[in-house]
Amino acid sequence: MKLSVIGCGYLGAAHAAAMASIGHEVIGIDVDQRKIDALAKGEPPFFEPGLAEILAEGIASGRLRFTTDLADAADATVHFVGVGTPQQKDGYAADLTSVNAAVDALLPYLTEGDIVAGKSTVPVGTAAVLAERVSPTGATLVWNPEFLREGWAVEDTIDPDRLVAGVPAGDEGERAASVLREVYHPSVAKGTPFIVTDYATAELVKVAANAFLATKISFINAMAEISEATGADVTQLADAIGYDARIGRRFLGAGIGFGGGCLPKDIRAFAARAEELGRGESVAFLRQVDEINMRRRDRAVQLVVDGLGGSPFKKNITVLGAAFKPHSDDIRDSPGLDVAVRLHGLGAWVTITDPAAIDNAQRIHPQLNYVHDRDDALRGADAVIVVTEWDEYRRELSPDHATALATGRVIVDGRNCLDAAAWRAAGWNYYGMGRP
Ligand code: UDX
Repeated sequence: MKLSVIGCGYLGAAHAAAMASIGHEVIGIDVDQRKIDALAKGEPPFFEPGLAEILAEGIASGRLRFTTDLADAADATVHFVGVGTPQQKDGYAADLTSVNAAVDALLPYLTEGDIVAGKSTVPVGTAAVLAERVSPTGATLVWNPEFLREGWAVEDTIDPDRLVAGVPAGDEGERAASVLREVYHPSVAKGTPFIVTDYATAELVKVAANAFLATKISFINAMAEISEATGADVTQLADAIGYDARIGRRFLGAGIGFGGGCLPKDIRAFAARAEELGRGESVAFLRQVDEINMRRRDRAVQLVVDGLGGSPFKKNITVLGAAFKPHSDDIRDSPGLDVAVRLHGLGAWVTITDPAAIDNAQRIHPQLNYVHDRDDALRGADAVIVVTEWDEYRRELSPDHATALATGRVIVDGRNCLDAAAWRAAGWNYYGMGRP
């Protein structure tokens, strides 16, 4: 099929390349000329494992092209809209400027029978409004939320765990759903659940999923706070409750909390939308989820300060990680970077390293000292804090190796990802999150 993908950020670029890799003819469109130039050369404008390979394949096959000219979407019959919906500058609601602009700009190129498939995360009620604008062209709007995780974007797009299509009522909706089934034919053929809903449900599936995940993380971080008050170990607690199949161990990783371009802004936008709907109290707990999450950053800073005997002033602190999670160069709302900035603010000499995110971090926080080589970053450290659980720090850094480089013996494990016993045995003062 001929597809267009409007918006080539983390979501859109992965979607365009993945759709080409399953056999479609795809045109990726973005207003950012630099992004398009890079993608057209087969170079992902951000770090995403596996993306370079399928970009190159798609371009070589002739099935994948990139442009800034929306008129090139005219040939396509299904148009995916995957532009950003960031938090508004002056509030918690989502900023829909890009979604509205993308759909409006697409209208002149739509023809009878086309499908516009919204992928962006939007406040419930948005699709119904957009559908009214799309409808006079003879095209149909569907809402097809995206659940990909950064770092696994290619895998999650080619082989998702479920597909959701919010469609209008009646024959028009049925036809639209069957077109989407055809788009995702390999997944549908192997039995991936394909759930057809109305618009509101499809929009809500996305925000509800992210709200649930954020709540799960903040739940275990709340247990970390209680563990800190009682001498319990939250990692053992998580293991033990995680064996209950109804609970499950995934997303029970206590630490410095969640960040990134989705969970923080999505729970805030959800709460703001619920307020507008007069149902603020239904998701009032999301405010606490947010607060617990932010408190963990304070705790991490406190552990470093305590470890250094009460003052980080003029102390060398090495921060291992900058990305909001491993396998990504994304620093949007990165808890680890926030911790680094706060330590800098307390007068410490902060050195940061990260396998992928240094360039992005440096652009936003030029005041910190960035070092590419992990061992160079560790040299002379009075204290070390792990904020992103990259394998380079979690598996490949032995305590003895760190001993030979650092000056001090303070290690703060912001992701509870290190072997506490091994670090202690090597003479380090190990501090975990919610661990004795
Ligand atoms: C998330 C959703 O998982 C995905 O389905 C949605 O499409 C977009 O938002 P992503 O932002 O890529 O994906 O990251 P995710 O893997 O969910 O992690 C989010 C944050 O939570 C990271 O900062 C991570 O470090 C943190 N986290 C995750 C924890 O603190 N503990 C955990 O146990 C798991």
